[in-house]
Amino acid sequence: MRVSTASLAAVCLPVALALPQHSHTYDQPSDQGSDLSSTRSPWSRENNNNNNDENHENYKFQGNKYANANNGNNSAAQQIAAQRAAAVKDAFQTAWSGYYQYAFPNDELLPVNNSFSNSRNGWGASAIDALTTATVMQIPAIVNEILAYVPNIDFSKSYQNEPVSLFETTIRYMGGLLAGYDLLKGPLNNLPNNTANVDACLTQAKTLADHLSFAFNSPSGIPHNNLFFNDNSFDNSTSNGLATIGTLVLEWTRLSDLTGDPSYASLTQRAENYLLNPQPATSEPFPGLVGTNVNISNGMFTDAEGGWSGGDDSFYEYLLKMYVYDSSRFGHYLDRWILAADSTIAHLTSHPSSRPDLT
Ligand SMILES: *[C@@H]1O[C@H](CO)[C@@H](O)[C@H](O)[C@H]1NC(C)=O
Ligand SMILES: *[C@@H]1O[C@H](CO)[C@@H](O)[C@H](O)[C@H]1NC(C)=O
Ligand SMILES: *[C@@H]1O[C@H](CO)[C@@H](O)[C@H](O)[C@H]1NC(C)=O
Ligand SMILES: *[C@@H]1O[C@H](CO)[C@@H](O)[C@H](O)[C@H]1NC(C)=O
Ligand SMILES: *[C@@H]1O[C@H](CO)[C@@H](O)[C@H](O)[C@H]1NC(C)=O
Repeated sequence: MRVSTASLAAVCLPVALALPQHSHTYDQPSDQGSDLSSTRSPWSRENNNNNNDENHENYKFQGNKYANANNGNNSAAQQIAAQRAAAVKDAFQTAWSGYYQYAFPNDELLPVNNSFSNSRNGWGASAIDALTTATVMQIPAIVNEILAYVPNIDFSKSYQNEPVSLFETTIRYMGGLLAGYDLLKGPLNNLPNNTANVDACLTQAKTLADHLSFAFNSPSGIPHNNLFFNDNSFDNSTSNGLATIGTLVLEWTRLSDLTGDPSYASLTQRAENYLLNPQPATSEPFPGLVGTNVNISNGMFTDAEGGWSGGDDSFYEYLLKMYVYDSSRFGHYLDRWILAADSTIAHLTSHPSSRPDLT
């Protein structure tokens, strides 16, 4: 099982942050660099003439200091921040041009020989990943190149009939399309040159979900993760993992909220309920901290080992994100996250080398 936290950060975060569910009005994006206090990490290194970066004791919380920073003259700091932002944007544009020229609409560029490959079912993974990046960077040319492609994706078949990962496809393709849709309908609706292509982000996300939904056809409702689109079959796994089951609910719930069709949320929330109410009791050795593998037939955990690393991590991440998304519907998700966090603080058995105080 491959659990890609990098993809989670890139794709899923915009969904959660951009979209409090009941927010129907959007603030305009603020001017670049106009509010340093909101873009700068509140954690800052104290200058004590000790240049040992390993020594994290030197980092102190500076939130109050930066909250008041705009009262002084910070234009030099703003200039540096703007230069850095421009360099990041430049690097993105270079990477996009290479991909667009040599690989689009395949999944990825092989930059050494300007060839390409399709590791994510051939639906243009790099393009869909880049949609929200180009959007938050406010590069209309790239946004519109990607939007023009969205209606042409054929989600009914997978490149060379390779297995489709429910998890990866949800966080990358569905998450990217829904986050793009929300941003381009909302705060960045000045970027698209064709609103039909923005609407296609939602209809394609729905089409994709309709092709994926058979994954949940199991006695328990725990989904299979590895799917074959030619005959709607699964691989032979009898269990699925904590992260692969528990990293669907945000995208599928958002899809239901946008389409008015509750079935997508129901499928993923039914599966999630086995994770929120783990059985047998021994699979929750510390309150909130659960095992890793779940029996697809009956929804029971088959072990009691886990943690916050790959294979488990994004289950916990989504507990918090669901609460951020809609605190009234998903308060019990926050309760589970707090239990897990408190247990972790109380029972942590390993620590970073620089922080022995944590255990
Ligand atoms: C603010 O800082 C910039 C860059 O250091 C400087 O050029 C400018 O004169 C300063 N402005 C004021 C009002 O002090
Ligand atoms: C390009 O390089 C990759 C390895 O990075 C190799 O697998 C592929 O066959 C190469 N393609 C061509 C057309 O040479
Ligand atoms: C919109 O942008 C795309 C991509 O740059 C371009 O091909 C297309 O001609 C543009 N359409 C309009 C109406 O400007
Ligand atoms: C599942 O197991 C059956 C019986 O052993 C085998 O024929 C089939 O190829 C397997 N399917 C996959 C996807 O591995
Ligand atoms: C999963 O559940 C089924 C049905 O209850 C049971 O027959 C099977 O042995 C279980 N598998 C594991 C690995 O626990």
